[in-house]
Amino acid sequence: MTLEELVGRHRVVVSAGSGGVGKTTVAASIALWGALEGRRTAVLTIDPARRLATSLGLETLGHDAREIPAALFAAQGLAPKAPLFAMMLDQKGAWDALVERYAPPDARPRILANPFYQHLSQTFAGSQEYMAIEQLCLLVDSGAYDLVVVDTPPTRHALDFLEAPRRIDDFLDRSVVKWFVRPYFSAGWSALRAVNRTASFLLHRLEQATGVSALAEISDFFTSMSGLFENFHERIERAYDVLRGAETAFVVVSSPEEQVLGDAEYLAGKMAELRMPLKGVVMNRVHAEVRREKRGTIDPDDLDAVTTLVGRAAGGRDPAPLVENFAAYQALARGEQLRIEQFRAGLPKRVPMALVPNFARDVHDLATLAAMHAHLFG
Ligand SMILES: Nc1ncnc2c1ncn2[C@@H]1O[C@H](COP(=O)(O)OP(=O)(O)O)[C@@H](O)[C@H]1O
Ligand SMILES: [Mg+2]
Repeated sequence: MTLEELVGRHRVVVSAGSGGVGKTTVAASIALWGALEGRRTAVLTIDPARRLATSLGLETLGHDAREIPAALFAAQGLAPKAPLFAMMLDQKGAWDALVERYAPPDARPRILANPFYQHLSQTFAGSQEYMAIEQLCLLVDSGAYDLVVVDTPPTRHALDFLEAPRRIDDFLDRSVVKWFVRPYFSAGWSALRAVNRTASFLLHRLEQATGVSALAEISDFFTSMSGLFENFHERIERAYDVLRGAETAFVVVSSPEEQVLGDAEYLAGKMAELRMPLKGVVMNRVHAEVRREKRGTIDPDDLDAVTTLVGRAAGGRDPAPLVENFAAYQALARGEQLRIEQFRAGLPKRVPMALVPNFARDVHDLATLAAMHAHLFG
């Protein structure tokens, strides 16, 4: 199978991998390809640097899927056969969207203004990952798209994305939450002390440990959120159904550096354990060995050959720095090739791997995203 067939046969593509390898870029490029091929496509991106927004010509990407204007494609010489929609998630906005969607209308302003909520929504580990998955489910369940491409958050550990729903589910399941959803908390300390001496003592300790002084706030938050938590468990099950579904393909993006490949291998193993196996690999930012026509590759240690080749390019200047630079590049490319071969050998046979070269410049515009297609799907 090729990556082209893989993307062609799946309705959901998730771009996963360690930070900085090119997940956001690859997700955008795959989505663009979908639209060019005539599939109504949505790309969900999580990019604090807003690089994708820039590359899609949008200064702000809202929480709703927004159609990329046709004029933008035309300006870059592209003519998609179907519309491309894009949306961006940020941590805070994601929680607010959750509240907007599930909390009873009269409770919304109270939740949004609650200081504990504001703290939680900005710091709770995994909330952004969870919201990405929740948003993905909405896009899929809307039935409005032939292809949904999802970028994953720039967490250090790519696994966080896959485990976030379960972690949030566990957190909400703990009895401590249910405790807080009791009316007497809102009444404050004195009421609580009257109810239960032990609870009062524990909460006092909790207060000291966490520095959160307004327990009433916490209680009020959980009480007003309780409607929201009610079918949380079902929603999380639904999220895992989508992630594990036959129509979903996880594509792991990696670069050929040793450390990054090690992370990708670890991730692939964990994904299999979680029953969300990787179905494709994009090896990004690959340096290709320079080859001569007919005579094949140039050995970086063969100084004569290198000097002959590079000497001409030096055009009378001292060729030594050029020779050194060339030999270093050639050795780098060789090392990468060996590591890529080794990595490929560890992959199941049916998993396709596409190699994308390291472009001389950052990938920011639609035309460059389209230029990646020759390598991803070529
Ligand atoms: N093949 C490539 N060649 C050159 N630059 C690339 C390539 N792929 C990605 N980049 C650049 O690398 C940077 C990180 O890419 P990004 O997609 O944001 O990574 P991630 O989402 O994994 O953190 C961006 O500036 C992007 O333009
Ligand atoms: Mg990114």
